[in-house]
Amino acid sequence: MKPVTSIIRAILILLAVSPLNALATSNEHVDNANFSYNNRSFLLNGAPYQIIGGQMDPQRIPRAYWRQRLQMARAMGLNTIFSYIFWNRLEPQPGKWDFSDQNDVAAYFRLAQEEGLHVVLRPGPYVCGEHDWGGFPAWLSQVPGMEVRSNNAPFLNASKTYIQRLAKEVQALQVNNGGPILMAQLENEYGSFGSDKTYLKALATILSDNFDVFLYTNDGGGESYLAGGQLQGVLAEIDGDPKTGFAARDKYVTDSSSLGPLLDGEYYVTWLDSWASNYSHETDSGDTAASQQALKDLDWILSNNNSFSLYMFHGGTNWGFDNGAIWGSSYLEAVTTSYDYGAPLDESGRPTNIYYQIRDVIAKYLPDGTIPDVPIAPNLTQVAEISLKPTVSLFDTLDFFHKTSADYPLSMEALGQSYGFVLYEHIAKTSVQGKVTLGGGIRDRVIVYVNSIRIGVMDSTYAAPSSEQVSLQKDDCLQLLVENLGRVDYAQQLKDQIKGVVGNVTMGNESTVLTGWSIYSMELDNIPPSATTQPSSQKSIHVGSGGPPVFYHGSYAISPDVSQSPLSRDTFLSLPNGVKGVAWVNGRNLGRYWTIGPQQSLYVPGCFLNNGTDLNEIIVLELEPRGNTTFFAKGLSTRHWFNNFDPDAP
Ligand SMILES: *[C@@H]1O[C@H](CO)[C@@H](O)[C@H](O)[C@H]1NC(C)=O
Ligand SMILES: *[C@@H]1O[C@H](CO)[C@@H](O)[C@H](O)[C@H]1NC(C)=O
Ligand SMILES: *[C@@H]1O[C@H](CO)[C@@H](O)[C@H](O)[C@H]1NC(C)=O
Ligand SMILES: *[C@@H]1O[C@H](CO)[C@@H](O)[C@H](O)[C@H]1NC(C)=O
Ligand SMILES: *[C@@H]1O[C@H](CO)[C@@H](O)[C@H](O)[C@H]1NC(C)=O
Ligand SMILES: *[C@@H]1O[C@H](CO)[C@@H](O)[C@H](O)[C@H]1NC(C)=O
Ligand SMILES: *[C@@H]1O[C@H](CO)[C@@H](O)[C@H](O)[C@H]1NC(C)=O
Ligand SMILES: *[C@@H]1O[C@H](CO)[C@@H](O)[C@H](O)[C@H]1NC(C)=O
Ligand SMILES: *[C@@H]1O[C@H](CO)[C@@H](O)[C@H](O)[C@H]1NC(C)=O
Ligand SMILES: *[C@@H]1O[C@H](CO)[C@@H](O)[C@H](O)[C@H]1NC(C)=O
Repeated sequence: MKPVTSIIRAILILLAVSPLNALATSNEHVDNANFSYNNRSFLLNGAPYQIIGGQMDPQRIPRAYWRQRLQMARAMGLNTIFSYIFWNRLEPQPGKWDFSDQNDVAAYFRLAQEEGLHVVLRPGPYVCGEHDWGGFPAWLSQVPGMEVRSNNAPFLNASKTYIQRLAKEVQALQVNNGGPILMAQLENEYGSFGSDKTYLKALATILSDNFDVFLYTNDGGGESYLAGGQLQGVLAEIDGDPKTGFAARDKYVTDSSSLGPLLDGEYYVTWLDSWASNYSHETDSGDTAASQQALKDLDWILSNNNSFSLYMFHGGTNWGFDNGAIWGSSYLEAVTTSYDYGAPLDESGRPTNIYYQIRDVIAKYLPDGTIPDVPIAPNLTQVAEISLKPTVSLFDTLDFFHKTSADYPLSMEALGQSYGFVLYEHIAKTSVQGKVTLGGGIRDRVIVYVNSIRIGVMDSTYAAPSSEQVSLQKDDCLQLLVENLGRVDYAQQLKDQIKGVVGNVTMGNESTVLTGWSIYSMELDNIPPSATTQPSSQKSIHVGSGGPPVFYHGSYAISPDVSQSPLSRDTFLSLPNGVKGVAWVNGRNLGRYWTIGPQQSLYVPGCFLNNGTDLNEIIVLELEPRGNTTFFAKGLSTRHWFNNFDPDAP
């Protein structure tokens, strides 16, 4: 139901203005606000407002570039920005809040307003967004009795704490207080997941208690999605194909209290990318039919006085380990580090062809001269080969990491860890041989070593993950390096998102349970200091094929011309020797790389680099070194997407 407070305020205002009409008004919950709607239009201070929107999430964009990205949105003709908020980044540990840097979402909304944009808030708590666990903090799974996205007291309690804290940040930025925030989304495509109205109502109450803008739901344009996701009194909107979606809304949402102007809340110009050797980059570039269809759809929406938001207008980057995943038919599909999404404004903030084409469509509907000129973005910079030298093997840095000793393996979350890797070590008490089996399945990529020699890879992104056969003598060390590839963000599987080893490790056909584990939490928020210092002798570092992961280190200087905009120093970091790993520049985790593609280079924003002649430090953790004593990095000024054969494919 709609906010009690705003209903009361509406009645008070109406009583003050014309007490008789108050009783005749059915839409009392919106008439009072600066932003409201009737059955045809959104209304901003009483005048029709057509939302020409695009999605752009602050937490995926370097803060120093927020303004440039917002200016590019205005310059394409958008008047509204839609933003997901990622709870896991705001509350990384229960009760520990972080609104610094890219998490300062209020600062982003203030900039949006300065640049002439309104904002639609999509606070979750569940947002999907191809983000780790759809935005839920990993620690949520450790709260007793937790059941996400349901009418569950622990879930609603944690959600309430989050929404209250977020509201404190952005309350003053709501339209009724003179800010840019027009409305807020309730849940996110809930109809694709469930249909529990008690839950939706409880969540709506939490949102309404904390925000005074009206709520809307956004679901797929089909009967079951709309039936499950709609809530009485809350405006129901659709996403996806606008023609079928709008027709479905008109047909299947019959409760007049959920009707209003039509908004396609996620018009997909293209789609996201996942890691796989047979998965090419999603783009409209060179696909005339696809881009013409998008332009026709947007033109159709605008010509009917309806509203849209492009998903994505600008995707940005899944920094570090922020990416989500989905379960495909039987295997995990992990989203790439890049969230370029083939969007009109590419990952580096440069306009693509379809940016200009969409701008032309929008311009037809606006008075001449109302869309600002497109600001010129400088070209990206090219960086010649930088040589990176091995510094230390990951297995020689174990002192740096938090160690837990236990009889049986503990999951990543049970260790209090959210992202990255966990190394599980077991010393054989007697000789044992056979297949290594993980009780809770492979979560998600497990490199198996015996005495630091790689035996094989078990990976849930493969349709048929291999099952490794090992042979241990007494005192041999079995090492399982387990990588969290990103928690599932969509569908029913998101209920069970625990990483690391879940359950017992057994070996052999008699299912011997291995006991006695040394467990190292490698969240990699900080890098071991030995990874950045060249050892006196490189002999001791085993970079051979089949050895343990190795840190490589190097540095480069950029043009000393500090008068140039940081954007001109942007580049795409390519690691041609790399198989799979993680890269940092000046301590910033740029994310995962993986030779299989389609992503072959990592976005390095110039604003992460030092000015002038100071060196910029590059660190790479290569998980599967191939004997390279020199590892090369290059900065590309033009991005290439392609796929390589997977050297680990079973
Ligand atoms: C929209 O509202 C107006 C005025 O309340 C009403 O006359 C009209 O029938 C409504 N139209 C639809 C399509 O519901
Ligand atoms: C509700 O959550 C808060 C903080 O998130 C916590 O301190 C409190 O114990 C929780 N209450 C219940 C009943 O779970
Ligand atoms: C909101 O509405 C009030 C009352 O109509 C008006 O005085 C105020 O200027 C409006 N606020 C904005 C930001 O337009
Ligand atoms: C990639 O290969 C897998 C396994 O054979 C298959 O299921 C999947 O559909 C393929 N994906 C693409 C994009 O071709
Ligand atoms: C859209 O709005 C304009 C201006 O209010 C009006 O002239 C036009 O008839 C409307 N078009 C449709 C399809 O409703
Ligand atoms: C970027 O490079 C292209 C081709 O090298 C050149 O034509 C263009 O003028 C450059 N743009 C800017 C903004 O420097
Ligand atoms: C692991 O094995 C031990 C000993 O067999 C057993 O008591 C325990 O329940 C097992 N744990 C799990 C999670 O299966
Ligand atoms: C167990 O494995 C060994 C060799 O790996 C084999 O000889 C034996 O027959 C197997 N036992 C059973 C019960 O499968
Ligand atoms: C180094 O990397 C390249 C891939 O760029 C690979 O072909 C080569 O075999 C690697 N190993 C050595 C010893 O150079
Ligand atoms: C580099 O210089 C620009 C202004 O020229 C400044 O805005 C920026 O903060 C500087 N960056 C660093 C890393 O010092």
